[in-house]
Amino acid sequence: MNFWQRLPKPFFVLAPMDDVTDVVFRQVVEKAAPPDVYFTEFVSVDGLQSPGREATMERLRIEPNLNRPLVAQIWGNDPEKYLKSAQDIAQMGFAGIDINLGCPEKGIVARICCGGLIGHNDRVADIISAVKAGAPNLPLSVKTRLGINEIITEDWAGFLLTQDLAALTIHGRTVREMSKVPAHWDEIAKVVKLRDEAGSDTVIIGNGDVVNRRTWPEALRRNRR
Ligand SMILES: Cc1cc2nc3c(=O)[nH]c(=O)nc-3n(C[C@H](O)[C@H](O)[C@H](O)COP(=O)(O)O)c2cc1C
Repeated sequence: MNFWQRLPKPFFVLAPMDDVTDVVFRQVVEKAAPPDVYFTEFVSVDGLQSPGREATMERLRIEPNLNRPLVAQIWGNDPEKYLKSAQDIAQMGFAGIDINLGCPEKGIVARICCGGLIGHNDRVADIISAVKAGAPNLPLSVKTRLGINEIITEDWAGFLLTQDLAALTIHGRTVREMSKVPAHWDEIAKVVKLRDEAGSDTVIIGNGDVVNRRTWPEALRRNRR
C-alpha cells in the first residue's frame, strides 16, 4: 500500500505551481491551511543532469517541518535523464515522484515535453519505466491534461491507466485550452469510470477550478469518488 492509497477520502492536494510552491510557500501554507499532499514546483531533468545542477537542486529542497507527504514533480523527455533524476530523488526523502505531462507553455510543448508528450505513448511508457527503475520504492504518479488540441480522454487516460501508476492527476482541460475555459469535470469523471472498468488501483485526482476544500465544482460533488 502506498501513501496515496492510505489518504482519507476526500483528500485535498496543493497543486504544483512553478515559482509559487517553493520551500517558503509550503511552510506558510503548512501553518495556515495545510493540504493532505504537497508537490514541488516542476523540476527539469535536463537541469538536474547538467553542470548547472546546483541551481536546479534548490527546487528540491525539503523543509524539515512538513507533516504531510511531499511529492517531487519532474519534467523533460529523455528517459535516461529521468532514470538518473529518479535515482537522485530516491535519496532525498520525498514521498513520491510525479511526472508532468500537462504544462501548456508553448516553448515547452514545442520541445515535446510536458503537455507536448500527450499522445506520444511509446516515449511516455519509456519515461515511466525509467522512473520506476530509478526509484523502485517511491510511488509514481502523473499529472496531465485531456489532450493537446482535442479531448482524447479514452485514448490518453486509457493508456496511462495501463501503466500501473500509483496516482493520476487529470487537469480537466486540453493544452490548447490553457486555463481559459471551465474545467471539464465530466471528462474527469470518465477517467474514474475507465479506472473502475479496468480494475486498476490508480488513485485519480481531479484538478481545475477547485477553489477551496468546501466550494468544489458541482460536477466533482456529483462524481466524488
Ligand atoms: C503560476 C502557475 C504555475 C504552475 N506551475 C505548474 C507546475 O509547475 N506543474 C504543474 O503540474 N502544474 C502547474 N500549474 C498548473 C496547476 O497545477 C493547475 O493544474 C492549474 O492551475 C489548474 O487549476 P485551476 O483551474 O485551479 O487554476 C501552474 C499553474 C499556475 C497558475
